[in-house]
Amino acid sequence: MRENGNTVRAGDPGIRELTLGGQAVRECSAVLDAVGEEFGAADDPGFLRKAGAYASGLPDEVLDAVREMRFAESTAALVIRGGPVGGADCPTPGHWKEREPAATVRQDFWLALVTAQLGDPIGWASLQDGHLFNDILPIAGEEREQTGHSSETDLELHIEDCFSDERCDALALLCLRNHDRVPNSLVTTAALDLGRLDLDALFSPRFLIMPDSEHLRRSGGTTEAGRPRPLMFGSRHAPYLRVDLPYTRALPGDERAAKALADLADQLDRGATTLSLAEGDLLLVDNYRALHGRGTFRPRYDGTDRWMRKLTVVRDLRRSRALREGADGRVIDPFAALVDAT
Ligand SMILES: [Fe+2]
Repeated sequence: MRENGNTVRAGDPGIRELTLGGQAVRECSAVLDAVGEEFGAADDPGFLRKAGAYASGLPDEVLDAVREMRFAESTAALVIRGGPVGGADCPTPGHWKEREPAATVRQDFWLALVTAQLGDPIGWASLQDGHLFNDILPIAGEEREQTGHSSETDLELHIEDCFSDERCDALALLCLRNHDRVPNSLVTTAALDLGRLDLDALFSPRFLIMPDSEHLRRSGGTTEAGRPRPLMFGSRHAPYLRVDLPYTRALPGDERAAKALADLADQLDRGATTLSLAEGDLLLVDNYRALHGRGTFRPRYDGTDRWMRKLTVVRDLRRSRALREGADGRVIDPFAALVDAT
């Protein structure tokens, strides 16, 4: 179905696709050229302060689609295809530590400019040395982990950094390489049949959410999962979600909560849809209203593997101030409070 010019609604009514035309691409490229003349990298603090101003020069069809996602909450995931940047010029690195710093400068600027409409970028001390821009690529030895570095197992549906109260409001994945068209999986709250879910239980703090294995390497084995959380919050008519299926369980002995979680998981799995990103495609996900995952693939580790750049943003940077070193700092240490307390 075609609507709003070239914005297309996918099967899940919460997912939209936008394919940019030639004029829009030229306008986006002009903004990227201007940014590139002033800054050398997208994690430059000076650029981050001005990203919103630069982003205002993007074409209306981009800005309107992202603003609708943010303010109307009618879109929970937006795919922007045919954008102004392509894939990577260099081989996919075997590890995020091996990436050439200059390899993705223009792609990073594109990520930052589009997401500037959704919030301010944050990084995690427990992920990829605190870098704001992360690499999603297969790593040898991690094929079966439930992280973005796995390959030979499905990355199950999840809210990003679900265990933390400081998780992002939105995340963006920019495809740099995906020769095998490995599918992303998505499901939004629009796919749920709320009348068949136990909302009383799901809105109550009766669930434990564990950090994923990548975060846990920094926590020294201590987790935030000791505090029970609700899996839904906000409006009961249009709830926000907080669930990472492999890392979420009901409190021990709470059979009603376990049943509510199982029913929710069943609806999420049944409602999930897949889409394939090509080089240069950008996927924006509302981290309160959509879960994402990834299908299985066989890694080659020869420089041609699937490679995405990821950026996460929050609407209120101040909310995480206790877990960031400075007011202008963007790196959250999710376990800082635990370390301070010991
Ligand atoms: Fe994720």
